[in-house]
Amino acid sequence: MNPIETTPEKDTGNTVAFRRPRARDGKRIWEIARDSQVLDVNSSYSYVLWSQDFSETSIVAEVDGEPVGFVTGYRRPANPEILMVWQVAVDASQRGKQIAGRMLCELFNRCAPDGVTAINTTISPDNEASQRLFAAAARTLGLQFHREPFFSAELFPDAHEPEDLYLLTPAPTGR
Ligand SMILES: CC(C)(COP(=O)(O)OP(=O)(O)OC[C@H]1O[C@@H](n2cnc3c(N)ncnc32)[C@H](O)[C@@H]1OP(=O)(O)O)[C@@H](O)C(=O)NCCC(=O)NCCS
Repeated sequence: MNPIETTPEKDTGNTVAFRRPRARDGKRIWEIARDSQVLDVNSSYSYVLWSQDFSETSIVAEVDGEPVGFVTGYRRPANPEILMVWQVAVDASQRGKQIAGRMLCELFNRCAPDGVTAINTTISPDNEASQRLFAAAARTLGLQFHREPFFSAELFPDAHEPEDLYLLTPAPTGR
C-alpha cells in the first residue's frame, strides 16, 4: 500500500499530494534537482535507486499527478532515531506555497511512529533559503534548531563549499 495524503492548496485550487517515491519517480526527481541550479546533481541512477530503496524516508509532492518537489532522506546508521535529509527541492513554478515545509513535516510525522525523533541536514553557508526552510520546519514541529560545523571545504576534491550540520532535536523534558 502506498497511501496518498492530500491537502487542498488555498491559493490555487490545486491539490498537493504527498507520497512515498517509487522507482519511476527517479527521472522526474533528477530533473527537479538539475533544474534547481543549486543542488549537486547526482546521477540519474542514484535518484532511481533512492526512490526504490529509501522510499520510507523520502517523499514527493505531486500536483496534477506530476511530482513537483521531493525530499530524499535516510536514517543515520549510527543513530537511526535521526532522519538525515539529503536533498530538498521544489520546481520553480511551485515555490512559495509551503510545499517544501509541508514535505519535511509530512515526512517527519510519517517516520515518527517508527522511532524518528530528530532531523539532521547539511547546508552550505550561502544557502539562506534552505536555512530558513529548516528553521521554519523546526518551529512547526516544535523542535529545537541549532548548527555546528560538519564538512570543511578541504574534504571535497572540487570547489564545493563547506557544509554545516543543522540539528532539529526534541526539546529537553524538564521535571
Ligand atoms: C529551498 C526550496 C526547497 C524552498 O521551497 P518552497 O516550497 O518554496 O519553500 P516553502 O514555501 O515551504 O518555504 C518554507 C520556508 O522557507 C522560506 N524560504 C523559502 N524559499 C526562500 C528563499 N528563496 N529565500 C528565503 N527564504 C525562503 C520561506 O519563507 C518559509 O519560511 P517561513 O515559513 O518562515 O516564511 C526551493 O526554493 C528550492 O527548491 N530551491 C533550490 C534547491 C535548494 O536550495 N534546496 C535546499 C538545499 S538541499
